[in-house]
Amino acid sequence: MEQLRMELGANSYDIFLGDGLLEQAGALLRLDRRVLIVTDEGVPADYAQRLAAQCAAPFIVCLPQGEGTKSLAMFQLLLERMLNAGFTRTDCVAAVGGGVVGDLAGFAAACYMRGIDFYNIPTTALSQIDSSIGGKVAVNLGGVKNIVGAFYQPRRVLVDPQLLSTLPPRQLASGLAEAIKAGVVADEPLLALFEQTDARAQMQEVLLRALRFKKQIVEQDERESGPRKLLNFGHTIGHGIESVCGLGGLLHGECVGLGMLPMCTTPQLRRRVEAVLEKYGLPTRVSFDPDAVFAALTHDKKAAGNTLTIVTTAQAGKAALQQVPLESLRVLLEKEAKEGIGR
Ligand SMILES: NC(=O)c1ccc[n+]([C@@H]2O[C@H](COP(=O)([O-])OP(=O)(O)OC[C@H]3O[C@@H](n4cnc5c(N)ncnc54)[C@H](O)[C@@H]3O)[C@@H](O)[C@H]2O)c1
Repeated sequence: MEQLRMELGANSYDIFLGDGLLEQAGALLRLDRRVLIVTDEGVPADYAQRLAAQCAAPFIVCLPQGEGTKSLAMFQLLLERMLNAGFTRTDCVAAVGGGVVGDLAGFAAACYMRGIDFYNIPTTALSQIDSSIGGKVAVNLGGVKNIVGAFYQPRRVLVDPQLLSTLPPRQLASGLAEAIKAGVVADEPLLALFEQTDARAQMQEVLLRALRFKKQIVEQDERESGPRKLLNFGHTIGHGIESVCGLGGLLHGECVGLGMLPMCTTPQLRRRVEAVLEKYGLPTRVSFDPDAVFAALTHDKKAAGNTLTIVTTAQAGKAALQQVPLESLRVLLEKEAKEGIGR
């Protein structure tokens, strides 16, 4: 078992990584109290049940699967469930699911009685690599993603790679895009691991490296005022594509992968990243309307004034933040639509 400590002063916490950790939850988490276990219908039911078997007073809530669950209605449902079950400030919430469940359950934990303990047991590649650590919790409102939320760190995170064995291969690949991102931004050997081996057979190593990367960045910048923006590599254009093409069936990580390509500023690196995306079955082409994607990304909350901070990389492992005029992004999107990812 690996143990990483997220050093955030009073909000510090441990992340445990290892096969079979779900069975050890009783020893690693404080479950001798009321525990609201939040999961969804797509997560194998026995995961939540195996956790419940280790709790003194478990309350399982199984929600519909999908992004629609990150809503104020589901947030209210969780709060009411806790209120009706007599939860006090010393009780806790545990998420057993992907990023949807983790973001929603974490936000409910952040708000119930102004904050009760939150444990995260992520079950998708994306949530194990990325969303379960870092403390961003949120729901969507009015079609805008993550617009209502908080920074609220979990008390502990258990990352059990065995839980990924039931994940559809496409979901696995989509989550891996975030680890490929970590390699391109800050960890060249991780990118090389994707190139030279089958990363899916080495999930523990991939997860460890990706978690170390995210930990370092979050520790430097818990509330995303500076270096944490590096995590947005691939996300600016990726989010734009996700808003416009997501309903056409593209997954988050697939859009992030596509969004990384225009941000590779040398042809060598772009070819390298493209080859890795292809190797893991991630798309490298998508047909899109540059005006629609531009409109979507300028609506994004990260846009401020006439400029936008983007993350570019010329050499694997060495990403940089760049402030660019919005207009230059429009030009880039038009070029990409004709000659790049849209061709
Ligand atoms: N908080 C953050 O920092 C952060 C970062 C990135 C993304 N996110 C959020 O994460 C969400 C996406 O997360 P996701 O990709 O994990 O999607 P998800 O939570 O919707 O899970 C994807 C699908 O896989 C199913 N599933 C989950 N675990 C499974 C398992 N072990 N076996 C089989 N099926 C399983 C789910 O039921 C769901 O249908 C988005 O809402 C995004 O905004 C948050």
